[in-house]
Amino acid sequence: MKLPSLEVEFCGVKFPNPFCLSSSPVGNTYEMCARAYDMGWGGVAYKTMCLDDVVKIVHPSPRLNALHRGTDRVIGIQNLEQISDRSTKENFEDCARLKRDYPDRVLIASIMGLTRESDWSELARMSEDVGADMIECNLSCPQMTVEGTGHKAGQNTKIIARAVELCKKACKIPVMAKMTPNITDMVTVARAAEEGGADAISLINTVRAITAVDLEKLVPLPNVAGKSSASGYSGAACKPIALRFLADLAMAGFKLPISGMGGIYTWMDAAEFLLMGATTLQVTTAILNHGYRVVEDMKEGLQYYMADHGYKSLSEMIGKALPNVTDPAHLSHETQAVSIIDKNKCIGCGQCYLSCRDAGAFAISLDADRKAQVDHEKCFGCLMCKHICPVDAVSYNIVRHHQYA
Ligand SMILES: Cc1cc2nc3c(=O)[nH]c(=O)nc-3n(C[C@H](O)[C@H](O)[C@H](O)COP(=O)(O)O)c2cc1C
Repeated sequence: MKLPSLEVEFCGVKFPNPFCLSSSPVGNTYEMCARAYDMGWGGVAYKTMCLDDVVKIVHPSPRLNALHRGTDRVIGIQNLEQISDRSTKENFEDCARLKRDYPDRVLIASIMGLTRESDWSELARMSEDVGADMIECNLSCPQMTVEGTGHKAGQNTKIIARAVELCKKACKIPVMAKMTPNITDMVTVARAAEEGGADAISLINTVRAITAVDLEKLVPLPNVAGKSSASGYSGAACKPIALRFLADLAMAGFKLPISGMGGIYTWMDAAEFLLMGATTLQVTTAILNHGYRVVEDMKEGLQYYMADHGYKSLSEMIGKALPNVTDPAHLSHETQAVSIIDKNKCIGCGQCYLSCRDAGAFAISLDADRKAQVDHEKCFGCLMCKHICPVDAVSYNIVRHHQYA
């Protein structure tokens, strides 16, 4: 079977496939990015670069903590890392070499102005000079130690617009603003980027968080010489937040193209981001977990999904789920779900019974064989039983709402 192409155009730049390294330690040197290109990534957002003449970036250690849940390892990662601690010269030399050796792959220069407005212009010029295809303005790192940068800049509409404007004036390549999730309203800050002349936005950077507290030492983690800080949380646990922002922007009529990221681990995650309006996709935490090879499954799985659903190109599927997002006030109140138990699968563990008794409608009881059974008159279709069932014995039917029956 001939599988559909994954090529996609974003701000006039041709991506061989939508999968890119997001700016982070996964794309910090020539060697790393070259290996990622060799393994099939369509693009790289290089680790955020700055001018190193005034500020020297130093990372605390340890710089990561991971959130585990039961037997699931690393459902999220909290990092204290700032932008690149390599010299500006080394980084731009690596970018130039990458573009020389991989002209058909996309290189996005992620940049951050630190102490002077002119940093943005200077970095944008340097990015264009080394052949970068696009610029990503980092307005979103939540643990920068230089006051007023990172997510603090990304919460301020004037600074966002100005940073983008300075970059746009300094170069001809497309400029994208990378947004922070550490805000209430994405639409306002995204519009500020648009006003500054942005060609696209990317979202999300990491969510400011504290993942755990050491119960003996009484220090949150990661413990850096007895102290810790709220800092950037990423990975699977963040995907719902990223998808929500995509929905918010679409509902507000925001039209700039979007590069989506936050918890993309599988081709299914990738498909969800595309259906919710992202044109290209970026990944870090899945690579921290499993290495660059995750892209192979992502690409193949996405192609089979496209073929199964009759999509001949990615552009045909982008945003296709958005018409089905609405305000809660517009959701139908006329139908409801009622749970159905497959007694052949039910193992009588009683988890659904407990949950329904203590947190639902008390609609589930256990029969003489300890198999769950549902009283459809009482069930209001929260489906918690379906979500917690360890053997997938619960499905549901849609019926007319009891109130309207
Ligand atoms: C250790 C680490 C370092 C990061 N450094 C940067 C950075 O330098 N610049 C940037 O724009 N984003 C940075 N990020 C954020 C990622 O690019 C990405 O926005 C975020 O991790 C969400 O995607 P994910 O869930 O696939 O990791 C970093 C993330 C991690 C985990």
